Amino acid sequence: MKFPRLGIIGILLILSTNDVISSNILGLFLTHSPSHVIVHMGVVRALVKRGHNVTVVTSMRLKDPNFGYRHIYLKTLEHTQNDTFTMMDTVISAPFYLKPYKFFLVGKEMIEKYSSYNLDPDYISFKKENNHFDLVLLGYQYNELNLGEAAHFKCPSVLVWMMQPFGHISRLIGNPNLPAFVPYSPFIPPNAMDFTHRVLNYIFYVVEGIITKIFEHVLKIYYDQIYPSPEYPSYWKTKKNISLIFYNHHFSEAPVRPLVPGLIEIGGIQIKEKPDPLPKDLQDYLDNSSQGVIYFSLGSNACGLHVKEHTYKMIFEVLSSLKYNVIWKLDEIKHPGNASNILYKSWLPQDDILPHKNVKLFITHAGKGGVTEAEYHEVPMVALPIMDDQPSNARNMQAKGHGLVLDHTTMTKETFREAINEVLKNKTYKNNVQTFSRLYKDRPMTAKQTAVYWIEYVIRHRGAPHMQSPLKDLNVLQENSVDVILFLLLMLYISFKLGKMLIKYCFNKLVRRFGFPKDIKSDHKKE
Ligand SMILES: *[C@@H]1O[C@H](CO)[C@@H](O)[C@H](O)[C@H]1NC(C)=O
Ligand SMILES: *[C@@H]1O[C@H](CO)[C@@H](O)[C@H](O)[C@H]1NC(C)=O
Repeated sequence: MKFPRLGIIGILLILSTNDVISSNILGLFLTHSPSHVIVHMGVVRALVKRGHNVTVVTSMRLKDPNFGYRHIYLKTLEHTQNDTFTMMDTVISAPFYLKPYKFFLVGKEMIEKYSSYNLDPDYISFKKENNHFDLVLLGYQYNELNLGEAAHFKCPSVLVWMMQPFGHISRLIGNPNLPAFVPYSPFIPPNAMDFTHRVLNYIFYVVEGIITKIFEHVLKIYYDQIYPSPEYPSYWKTKKNISLIFYNHHFSEAPVRPLVPGLIEIGGIQIKEKPDPLPKDLQDYLDNSSQGVIYFSLGSNACGLHVKEHTYKMIFEVLSSLKYNVIWKLDEIKHPGNASNILYKSWLPQDDILPHKNVKLFITHAGKGGVTEAEYHEVPMVALPIMDDQPSNARNMQAKGHGLVLDHTTMTKETFREAINEVLKNKTYKNNVQTFSRLYKDRPMTAKQTAVYWIEYVIRHRGAPHMQSPLKDLNVLQENSVDVILFLLLMLYISFKLGKMLIKYCFNKLVRRFGFPKDIKSDHKKE
């Protein structure tokens, strides 16, 4: 009797030595974009499951049920939500040559609004009561300002970015930028850049570099107000202290790029490897739709507001006339009408629906998250992109053969119906997306395991300063070896000049000693 009990205790002891020490982690996700927060919460979900104590601070109400984190919702930032959308609209509607400028103005205004996070009474009292954190996880959207919180808690910081890293993001972690083959704009195709693309890419890369450089000085002004020295380290020091950047991308999606150890791919972190059980009505609906289900959603970003009412009517008329069942996500959109084959819902667990075997097609606005989820779960798509990066996500998706893209402003009932039938009936789309899914999932560690491993690594090694890329200490000229090249050219020039002087000197010496060889001179004249 005693022996097994001792044995069990022994086993427990052995297990517990391998067990994680729960860390206190602060997640700061001050964005109003649900597609960003989904990615951030993917990391939180993995950390909570691993047993860490995570506190999440958001400026947005979270819709999903809480899975075991502490949540602080900054009510005082609520009004910034609509402001953000209006501001983004001014960028979208600006002519292309004014976009960078408008974007800069909007960014500045957004910083002004967001910089008030530190004045939220709930956050102030929270900070008073809690003064120990092992790590700050910052949802990144050009908001280095918020890194001041890591400086406040004197702990390492890790950023989460929701797509591929642009030039500025690589620079933050000291990853080399190579605009010759790594695209730095969502408008440049990930593969096969031709000369024109490389020119455009280079221009985009330089313009983004200049804008973000100017922007940083704006950020610094706010930083200095909220985190004054000498109480806090300087903006530049805090920024340089970033331990890791996670980004939501995987090389199988193209492009392939070189990575320093601090820039880590967690593509698909928002996707559950095993779907959660569905609400009973949805489960039954999906199970009973043996003829197949079309899942229709234009996302959660108020995108639907940009689609005209008659387009909705048209979509409704086509979908209601199909022999497939339809799950339609309503979002700030007027109810288009009832049909026996359409199930309307205002909230849907997309990631749990897409893996169902009866889902045959996803009609999407082509947000990065939705496209990735569909690709992961092997569902071909018809995309109706609306704004931001959606048109380029959609184009890339079509180029990979995972579905078709339609322009919602010009499509007709016929073209819409044709696209749906083509993707449903032609097996190549399904086959392509299946092949891709296999490549995407084939990794040494899942996205969640990767994120957890590296966060624990940073905590274990107190910020892991040995991982810092030396590139962080170099300026633009040094980074591109311009100083070295100029130095070598100068050396070459000097040695050339010196050589010339030396030869001249020797020559003159020779002439003086032996006189000018006359016959050579006369030979030369004859020619
Ligand atoms: C979890 O973190 C919160 C916030 O710092 C803290 O108040 C709480 O005591 C922590 N719980 C545990 C079990 O450490
Ligand atoms: C940098 O991070 C370390 C922990 O990783 C922390 O102790 C230190 O205070 C931070 N320094 C600055 C300047 O933020």
